[in-house]
Amino acid sequence: MAQNDTTARIAHVFSGTCVHSTPRAAVEILENCVLGVDDEGKIAFIEKDKDLVSLSKIWGFETSDIKQLGQTEFLMPGMVDTHIHASQYSYAGTALDLPLLEWLNTYTFPVEAKYKDLDFANNVYTKVVRRTLKNGTTTACYFATIHTDASLLLGELADKFGQRALVGKVCMDCNSAVPQYKESPSECKVETDRFIKELLKKEYPNVKPVVTPRFALSCSASLLSELGEIANNNKLHIQSHISENKEEVELVKTLFPGCKSYTDVYLKHNLLTDRTVMAHGCHLTDEELEIFHETGSAISHCPNSNISICSGMLNVRNVLKHKVKLGLGTDVAGGYSPSMLDAMRRTLDTSKTLTIQDPQHQTLTFEEVFRLATLGGSEALSLDEQIGNFVVGKDFDALRVNVCVPDGPIDLFPGEGPKVILEKFLNLGDDRNITEVYVAGRQVVPFPEP
Ligand code: GUN
Ligand code: ZN
Repeated sequence: MAQNDTTARIAHVFSGTCVHSTPRAAVEILENCVLGVDDEGKIAFIEKDKDLVSLSKIWGFETSDIKQLGQTEFLMPGMVDTHIHASQYSYAGTALDLPLLEWLNTYTFPVEAKYKDLDFANNVYTKVVRRTLKNGTTTACYFATIHTDASLLLGELADKFGQRALVGKVCMDCNSAVPQYKESPSECKVETDRFIKELLKKEYPNVKPVVTPRFALSCSASLLSELGEIANNNKLHIQSHISENKEEVELVKTLFPGCKSYTDVYLKHNLLTDRTVMAHGCHLTDEELEIFHETGSAISHCPNSNISICSGMLNVRNVLKHKVKLGLGTDVAGGYSPSMLDAMRRTLDTSKTLTIQDPQHQTLTFEEVFRLATLGGSEALSLDEQIGNFVVGKDFDALRVNVCVPDGPIDLFPGEGPKVILEKFLNLGDDRNITEVYVAGRQVVPFPEP
């Protein structure tokens, strides 16, 4: 290992087991590992079976400052929620008795209309950022609402609590059953421009805007075109929904008769780029998946939501075969849980259900699902050069996990090694097991005292 001849100061050193994914290995377990983080929040070194004293001399840290992980502990990359509606968190866990289009008009639009009130927004947005951070979501790709000021507030709160976030002011100019909850096309363009300018002006290091047409049914063709242009002129991320539910797919066909498919609607309006993430995609055809591959666009798989509001089941194996980038999303509140551990479990459930229906289907493994929740999510958001796994030079977004905490949900038995410990955490663990959370090297959980 090279001598540390840079000026980087080491801010944290951990010694113990690190677990992460690489493009080659869904799970790589590094036992007896030492990981150093510099004062800019980047991983400075990661070494296996090295002597701590010699490392401390090379990197200039005190061995007394090392955080020693116990036998029941490990570090893993922070989880990436590629699709969550911050504005729907207030009713998460309720209102799951209607299919998508009725669900939107009955529950969602009336609640989202309330974000005109910044006090209401502040209360819900504070709670959703804290809840997701505590559950190990170090990066969230958020939908807010049509309200620019409340959406800016969500960005401010993510920055304040230290979560990495893409924040989208929602754009919609048609087909809302709640008259006060939609914009005129011109209003939408002006407000989207203002949102992007004002959020970028804040220069938050880890919070950026994402252009957010709600979905094809909520947007006129001219609005979709405007948004494609804004995103491409400013090299911004784009997020929306696609092919979630069959009724929706049929309606898109009738409303956009000039387009070959739902995917073609977004393609024609320049909304499919290598910074695009589309939620659901349950009913996409192989031809459409090829377009995703060619454009570098990603899919956010939201299995809790897909089942909870009876939308469909995405065949993740088929998406991966098409070499389409894929991450996991909670899709709160269509999905009732804000936890990415739940998203992993529901991903496995859906995959197993597909195997029950067709024994030829190759079920996803828990290792693959771990990769989707971490590295896969970073790829889906085109952030994989910065986050997603433990590689020197990437930002240190990480969870310290302890499977044996007082009154915790997991019991260990003799002879259980790190792989079993990981599997038990993924299947049985919860926020009590996530004892520390780091984003870009900053410890953000436990929360600082007010
Ligand atoms: N499609 C358009 N808007 C939404 C939403 O808020 N949630 C879900 N699940 N699907 C959508
Ligand atoms: Zn959604």
